[in-house]
Amino acid sequence: MAGKEVVLSVQDLSITYLTRRGRLQAVSHVSFDLHRGETLALIGESGCGKSTLNFGLMRLLPKNANTDTGKIVYTDRAGQKIDVLALNTRSLRKFRWSECAMVFQGAQNSLNPVIHVRDMIYDTANAHGLNNRGEVRERALELFRKVRLDPERVFNSYPHELSGGMRQRVLIALGLLLNPQVVIFDEPTTALDILTQRSILNVLRDLKEELGFSSIFISHDLAVAAEIADTVATMYAGEIVEMGPVNDIFYEPRHAYTLGLMEASPRLSVGREELDGIPGSPPDLVELPTGCKFHIRCPFAIETCKTTPPQLEQASIGHIVACYKSSEVLEKGKELRSVSSTARVARLS
Ligand SMILES: Nc1ncnc2c1ncn2[C@@H]1O[C@H](COP(=O)(O)OP(=O)(O)OP(=O)(O)O)[C@@H](O)[C@H]1O
Ligand SMILES: [Mg+2]
Repeated sequence: MAGKEVVLSVQDLSITYLTRRGRLQAVSHVSFDLHRGETLALIGESGCGKSTLNFGLMRLLPKNANTDTGKIVYTDRAGQKIDVLALNTRSLRKFRWSECAMVFQGAQNSLNPVIHVRDMIYDTANAHGLNNRGEVRERALELFRKVRLDPERVFNSYPHELSGGMRQRVLIALGLLLNPQVVIFDEPTTALDILTQRSILNVLRDLKEELGFSSIFISHDLAVAAEIADTVATMYAGEIVEMGPVNDIFYEPRHAYTLGLMEASPRLSVGREELDGIPGSPPDLVELPTGCKFHIRCPFAIETCKTTPPQLEQASIGHIVACYKSSEVLEKGKELRSVSSTARVARLS
C-alpha cells in the first residue's frame, strides 16, 4: 500500500475503561495508517480490544471509557484533514455514516423485529438529511442488488422474515447507504455457517472492488481475514504486536501469538487431529503483566521478555513486529509449514 493516499491515520491511541476493579487498559498505544481502497484486518482473541479500538475511531465509546492518548486524522474526499477527536456533536453526526460507517458486531441478531427494513433505511437516511424517499429507495434497492439480495422483497420485509446471512447483508447495505469512504466490519461472518460466511466474504470482496472504499475488517479468525485483507494486524491485550501485508503475515508470521492463531485455526492447522489452540488465556487488562504481555503463554519467551516490553520494529518492507524472538518464530513457522505443506495447500485451494 506504499504510495497510496492515507485515508485514516491513527497514532498512539490508548483507551481505558473505568471499572469497579480499576482502570482497564483495553487499547494500548495503537498506531496504523489505512490507505485508500485498503482492507486492514484486525485479528485477535476475544477481549483483546478490537471493538473498543473501532468504537474509539467512530467516537462511539460508552461513558465509562476514556481516550487517554492518541490522534485520529481522517482525510475527506476533498483532501481536507479532519481531527476526529476534536469533532463536535454536529460534525460527528456527518462523519459517522457519511464518511466512516460501522457494521456492528452481532447487530444482525439485535435488529428491532417490529421495524420494517424499509423504515430502517428511511430512518437512517433521514437522520443524515436525505429526505427524498424515492431517491433513498432507489439507492437502497441498488445496494441490495449489489449484496445479492432480492431487492423488492427484502426492502418490504421485517427482520425476522430474513435469515441471519440476509440480515447481515442488509446491514452491510445500510452501512454503505451514505457512500462512506471507510467502512468498519466488526466480525461480519462470526456465528454464520460456513457457506453463508463464504458468500458474505464474496459480497464484501466484490463491493470493495466496485465501490473502492477502505475498510477495517475485524475477525478472530486469521483464515477468514486472509481472504479479504490487504494488510493484517494482530492484536494482543490491547496492543498491535504484528502488522504487515497479508501474505507476509500469513506465510511468514514473526510473532509467536500470530503463529499461535494460525495453529489454532481449524482451517489452517493441518496434519493434527486435535487442535491445541494457544495454551493459557489473555492477561487481566486491569493488572497487566510486565514485559511482553504475551510472555506467560509464549513458548519462545526468554528472561528479557518478562521484564522489558519489546518495541515494534521493521522486519521486512511494511512488516513490523514486537518480539525479541521473531527470527526463531519465523523459522518455527516454516518448519510447521513444510511438515504439513501438502495438506495445507490442499485445504487452502
Ligand atoms: N463497557 C465496558 N466497560 C468495561 N470494560 C469493557 C467494556 N467494554 C469492553 N470492555 C473490556 O475491554 C476489553 C476489550 O473488549 P472488546 O470488546 O474491545 O474486545 P474484542 O476484541 O472486540 O472482543 P470480542 O472478540 O469478544 O468481540 C475486554 O477486557 C472487555 O471486557
Ligand atoms: Mg468485539
